[in-house]
Amino acid sequence: MSVHPSSNIKRITTHILQEMKNRGEKISMLTAYDYSMAGIIDAAGIDIILVGDSASNVMAGHETTLPITLDQMIYHAASVVRGVKRALVVVDIPFGSYQGNSSEALRSAIRIMKESGAHSIKVEGGAEIKESVVRILSAGVPVMGHLGLTPQSIYKFGTYTVRAKEEAEANKLIEDAKILEDCGCFALILEKIPAQLAKRVAEALTIPVIGIGAGGYVDGQVLVVHDMLGITQEFRPRFLRQYADLRGMMHDAVGNFIKDVKSQDFPNEKESY
Ligand code: KIV
Repeated sequence: MSVHPSSNIKRITTHILQEMKNRGEKISMLTAYDYSMAGIIDAAGIDIILVGDSASNVMAGHETTLPITLDQMIYHAASVVRGVKRALVVVDIPFGSYQGNSSEALRSAIRIMKESGAHSIKVEGGAEIKESVVRILSAGVPVMGHLGLTPQSIYKFGTYTVRAKEEAEANKLIEDAKILEDCGCFALILEKIPAQLAKRVAEALTIPVIGIGAGGYVDGQVLVVHDMLGITQEFRPRFLRQYADLRGMMHDAVGNFIKDVKSQDFPNEKESY
């Protein structure tokens, strides 16, 4: 267990996450892409911060996660790491920087770890990326898997609907989950699959299984922070619980600022030198 150098805060490690699963304590995980947001959610006590390639959507305004580059992910990850004292930081390896071959995958993972200071990486896929996962793990880089709805394959799926409802896809998902665990992955994300299938996976695996749209029987939950804070507006899937209306609050605050500037109420004497 490592201790943050400038405080007595105990860092969350992959071993602590495993202990949490073993004793039945649920794991909390949110995304972050910048220093300020990472600092807020870390101070609130989140266990894992994911620098997701959803940055491509919520930070850059792209329709999919495909356009974001390795350099851009490293920039986001380094910003997040500077804001975090306690949480484990996981970084998505972006589309196109690990699918080619295992040497490319290893190079990308090492760049993320060296240049951002993050603690682990996440990959999408199962059997087809096994060799890359093994290679990255052999370099001592902790790997989180991601199965079910894997947004980097959106053009293969065609839609963002629930995955693995059919038996064949469900069986393949269970096989892939076992492969990732056997390779040595420290945790697995399951996205948008039936709750009963996610339950089977969480019970079959010894490593923590974290869900997004995968029901309540898994070992933890992850959401995209912009969605749960109500900053994004158009994305309202059934699995999303919105904990705030930050978009509304920000809109009102900006409106009040504009009003005060126009009416010359701001700045007043006390706000001037
Ligand atoms: O990129 C991301 O935010 C993710 C989560 C949806 C799990 O992969």
